[in-house]
Parts: sequence; structure tokens; C-alpha cells
Amino acid sequence: MRRFLVSAVGGIAIPFSTTARPVPKRMVSVHGPNWERVRSEYALSDSILNFHNAGLNPTPRRISKRLSELTAQANEVPALSQFRQMPRMVVEVREKMASFLGCKPTELSFQVNTTQALETILLGMDLPEHAEILTSDQDYPSILNTLDLLQRRKNIKVVKVSLPTPTSDDEALIESFRAAITPQTRVLLFSHIININGQILPAKKLCDLAKEHGILSVVDGAHAVGQLPVNLSQIGCDCYATSFHKWVGAPVGNGGMYIREDLIPDIWPNWGAPVGQEHSIEKFEHSGTHPLPIRIALEDALDFHLGIGTENKRSRLLELNKWWIDEVKKLPKVYFNSPLEESHRSSIINVGITGWSPDKLSTYLRKEWKVFTSISMHPQAKGIRVSPNVYTSRQDVETLILGIKQAHQSAPE
Ligand SMILES: Cc1ncc(COP(=O)(O)O)c(C=O)c1O
Repeated sequence: MRRFLVSAVGGIAIPFSTTARPVPKRMVSVHGPNWERVRSEYALSDSILNFHNAGLNPTPRRISKRLSELTAQANEVPALSQFRQMPRMVVEVREKMASFLGCKPTELSFQVNTTQALETILLGMDLPEHAEILTSDQDYPSILNTLDLLQRRKNIKVVKVSLPTPTSDDEALIESFRAAITPQTRVLLFSHIININGQILPAKKLCDLAKEHGILSVVDGAHAVGQLPVNLSQIGCDCYATSFHKWVGAPVGNGGMYIREDLIPDIWPNWGAPVGQEHSIEKFEHSGTHPLPIRIALEDALDFHLGIGTENKRSRLLELNKWWIDEVKKLPKVYFNSPLEESHRSSIINVGITGWSPDKLSTYLRKEWKVFTSISMHPQAKGIRVSPNVYTSRQDVETLILGIKQAHQSAPE
């Protein structure tokens, strides 16, 4: 639909497509999603089978098209669309995204990605001297770098526990953090899904633990939103950061930062904000002119995601991984660095073969089988990371299985 938005400046009307692209028909029936139909929505490579979706999800073809159209429209009278029309459209996107995440729109700020969101939160806190930030050494390296920077700049201490991995024992995970809490602990930062092996952490229980001790909970949800049903008010966290360009499949540059409403005045923005915005989430978005078409296309990506449904997506990702895990776990030299119980595993599975370095195995799969994976060299999880997506077919998985079996056969005794 093409509507005419009337600008506040001189009543100029210019065409602007304000409605999101309709969700494709027949993607989901009463029998559940039609995965072949879902696959047809993606522009897939002919030469690579992409099993590295943890890095970044592709955006469906119709979302890329919508983004190009928005960009072209915005370019007709750029200052009008950038400063007047698109900000109004972003208000609606924020409302829809807040409802998806189970928070208020006044608690959700759009950021470029998880990294920027967590940096804003962590660097914006006024922590007392000798305060401690508790986290794990399985957290994302860039975020650990941010904490390191904070430690070097201010008189605070970062305490990194080593979480038991792989495990599905929530109590053991909680205990690792509990044992490291001291009277100086002010912040607990943890990943909802650990990036190196896809292990799901008990977010609500960890936030309850933080609350019990009067500690702020900050959750890195880069991989959780879109893969797991995430309801922020039920999780009860103080802050949450995510990247919609991962498992929601939005165009790159779409991240979200949640800060519980009453905490907003306690966190400084990275950029100057007008006086009077101390209590407003808006104070975190004064980063200058930045691309708004991607924010608007986020709504289309969310609609597409909701068209499949988070629960359906989660079941599919579990199923795709189960196919190959069941086949290769029988092989004596194959080991897993991810929990295999459904309650604790996600789309990211860390697997290895004794005798193969992660690097060599990943390269072999790519060169000989066109299977693209990533690697983890974390001391507790050395292996390749396999992360399929909703467009992955049974045939793609069969190729992965053949590749792993062949590698296993040629592994040294
Ligand atoms: C756990 C975790 N946190 C943060 C990030 C950073 O995400 P982004 O690059 O979108 O900021 C990643 C990226 O893979 C991640 O795995």
C-alpha cells in the first residue's frame, strides 16, 4: 500500500510506503510450517551450505527487497524522510517489538547490535570504587573486552567464573555464580545462550539470584531472541541486550537494549542528550544521523518471524540438529562440547573429532563438502560450531553427516 504522508513542513506530501510487506501465504498451515515453502523465501548460495548462522542470519528475500524500496523512497527527499517521516514509523516498530519482547516501549531502545547495547549499559553505570562485576569466561570476547576496559579505567574488579560446560545442571550453573558473589558485587552479566557451544542458561533463576543479593542483572541475549520465547518481564532482568540481525533475521544493524524503567535515570547515555530526558529511553539514541530504513524493515522481519512462530522455529532447529547428532554420536572419536538435552541446547552445537583440529575440520568440511561452519578455540570447548537455520533442508543435513563421517574415517587412530 502506498500512502501519502504529509510533512509538518509546509504540508508537502510525498509518497511513502508505510505498511509492512504481508507475511507470505501458505508458510504455515494447521499441520505446522511448510519448511520447503519457508526455504523458498531465502536467496541461498549455490556453492555453500550455510551452517554458520550463529554468526549472522540471512534476511529473507522479501525483507531485502523491502529495505531497498525504503532506502530508495527515503532518498527522494532525504531530510524529510529521515527527520520527520521515518521517526514516526519507528514509533510503531518499537511498540510492536516491545510487545514481542514482553516489555514497555518506553523501556526499549534501538541500538546497532548487542555489543553497542551492552557497552552503553556497562560503561554508563556509576559504580562505586572497588565494585565487582561478576561474569563468566564463556561470555562473548568483545563484551569481556569492554569489561576489561572498564577495569583499566576505573577502580573496579571483573570476576570471571568458569561455568561447567557442557551441562544441563542448572543448579551447578547457578552455584558457580553464587559462590563468587561478594559484598562488593554490583552487577551480574551472563549470556542467555553461550556463543561457543549454544548452551542455554537459566536466565530467570540467575536474575532471581541477582535480585536476592541486591545485584543488577545484565543479560546478553544475542542468540536468545528469535530462538527462544523471551519475555523480559517474566525473566525479571534489569537490562537485556540483543541483536535482531541474528535469529529474528532482520537486516544488519538492528539491535535492542532493554533497561527496566526505574533504572533508566541511573545509566548515563554514551552520547549527549537534552536536559529533561534523564528518565527517558530516548536519551540513548542521540547518535546522530543513522540509517532508519533498516529500523523500519525490522518490522517486516519481525512479521516474517512471527509468521513462522518462535515455538515452531525452536522445534525445527532442535529437529535439524537432532538428525545429525543422532547419526554421528555413535562414532567413537566424535565428542560434543554442547549439552545434548533439548532443554539446554540451541541451534549452535559444538562438536569435534579426536585427531582433527577445529580449524582443519572446518576447512575440510568447507572445501570437500561445501559445508560452512565456524570454530571455537575456547579451552573448554575446542571444536567446530554447527548452526543450521529454518531454511536448512534434510538434504543439507545429510551432506553434513557424510562430511563428518568421512572425516571420522580419516582421523588418526
Ligand atoms: C553471546 C554474544 N554476545 C554478543 C555478540 C555480538 O553480537 P553483535 O556483533 O551483533 O553485537 C555475539 C555475536 O555473535 C554473541 O555471540
